Amino acid sequence: MRNAVFALSSLLIVGTVSSADDWDLTAPTGLKFGLIKGYENWHVVATHYRTDKNELRYIIGNDKAVEAYRKGMKKFPEGAILVKIGYSLKKNPAFPKSVEPDVLQRVEYMIKDSKRFKESAGWGFARFVRDPKTGKYKVFGKSAKDYAQCFACHKLVEKKDFVFTDYVRRK
Ligand code: HEC
Repeated sequence: MRNAVFALSSLLIVGTVSSADDWDLTAPTGLKFGLIKGYENWHVVATHYRTDKNELRYIIGNDKAVEAYRKGMKKFPEGAILVKIGYSLKKNPAFPKSVEPDVLQRVEYMIKDSKRFKESAGWGFARFVRDPKTGKYKVFGKSAKDYAQCFACHKLVEKKDFVFTDYVRRK
């Protein structure tokens, strides 16, 4: 696991660079891509592999989110942000039994802002989909309605403050 975490930190730096105007994209929920500028250097919380989508995901958090995890807080504080980055997979050319991230497909996040997002228990959602050919991002969804599904599904984990991911131990 230690190696995996180490490999991940270099991968995040190479894999998630986006051009200046991508940061101006705004999701229908009013959340800008630029709000998470710098996330390339945030902490890794855990990885997930979605068997139905064949996608590898990294969940990373800002300081506030990670501190809450480490303290075992039941609720995330205001300003906590969790980002999910999804990649397609490929075999490592030198060692095909090892699969690794290939193409970065999207970046999405949730932020705790209770004043702004009262109706979804304080969480605001945003998703940005990357075109692998151009490397440019597009906003997911046309209206706030398209984002109702985010909170609806995250309700499955209402008891964990609507967050699926647990912090994985490193040692
Ligand atoms: C059908 C269920 C479902 C929907 C819809 C959904 N999510 Fe999630 N989300 C998950 C699951 C399951 C995880 C755990 C990680 C994984 O498997 O990818 C997750 C994880 C996340 C995380 C990391 C924090 C956490 O809860 O673990 C973020 C950020 C996130 N989703 C954002 C979004 C956004 C933004 C949308 C809407 C555009 C959305 N999700 C819609 C199921 C869903």
